[in-house]
Amino acid sequence: MKTQTVNGAELAYVDAGAGRPVVLVHGFPLDHSMWNAQIEALSEDYRVIAPDLRGFGRSGVSDGTVTMQQFADDLAGLLSALQVDEPVVLCGLSMGGYVAWQFWRQHGRRLRGLILCDTRAVSDTPEAAAARREMVQRVLREGPAPLVAQMMPRLFAPSTAQDQPELVESLRRVMLKTDPRGIAAAARGMAERPEMVSQLNQIECPALVIVGELDAISTAEEMRAIARAIPHARLVEIAGCGHMSPLERPTEVSAAMREFLGGLA
Ligand code: MLT
Repeated sequence: MKTQTVNGAELAYVDAGAGRPVVLVHGFPLDHSMWNAQIEALSEDYRVIAPDLRGFGRSGVSDGTVTMQQFADDLAGLLSALQVDEPVVLCGLSMGGYVAWQFWRQHGRRLRGLILCDTRAVSDTPEAAAARREMVQRVLREGPAPLVAQMMPRLFAPSTAQDQPELVESLRRVMLKTDPRGIAAAARGMAERPEMVSQLNQIECPALVIVGELDAISTAEEMRAIARAIPHARLVEIAGCGHMSPLERPTEVSAAMREFLGGLA
């Protein structure tokens, strides 16, 4: 991986292939490696940039709160540092999608299109935000294990968990290695993220919405509503798949992404 200092944080990132730029933004509390299959599939025809967000993977950690806007500003700063001046397709999963909304708000001129994977447009309810902050305290005291135990059963479809235990284990390892301060900062940022439902109808760029049929975190019903609200969105539902669609169904997700990318002007 390469590194680049952006907005005071050292960001690690993969930069593979050549062509029109595609940026892949991971979920919480993960790193760029969740996109390995897509990096391989897309870098045949595109320049694929897949960062570890600050506080995750090999990137530097910030204390306090890292807002979704800060992550979006980091991505814009990384693109500037890499001299990527042409518009990009930004693809985010779950928390990566929360970052993608803020990138659209603040850096919309840099967007050719959006890919929203298994994500949400609502903000946290007060109860959900309070639960996140409680979990932050536990993670800072005990490390990532309690968060991992809470999240793991909701990440994959039951059949994936049963048939691909090695996939589940490798994701667990990534989560357990994450710096508790990085987890805390991003969780605080998610707890205060703005709602985006009311702005979806203003998104003018083409969008691809991908959801696993059995996603327990960002449900298919919720994502269908997101796709209906964005004027130029196409929805792809992946049958029998959970929240981690790019990992659970790499071939289908990469094919949907390639089809979307190939159709862009
Ligand atoms: C994720 O997968 O990024 C998280 O589940 C998002 C969240 O906790 O809201």
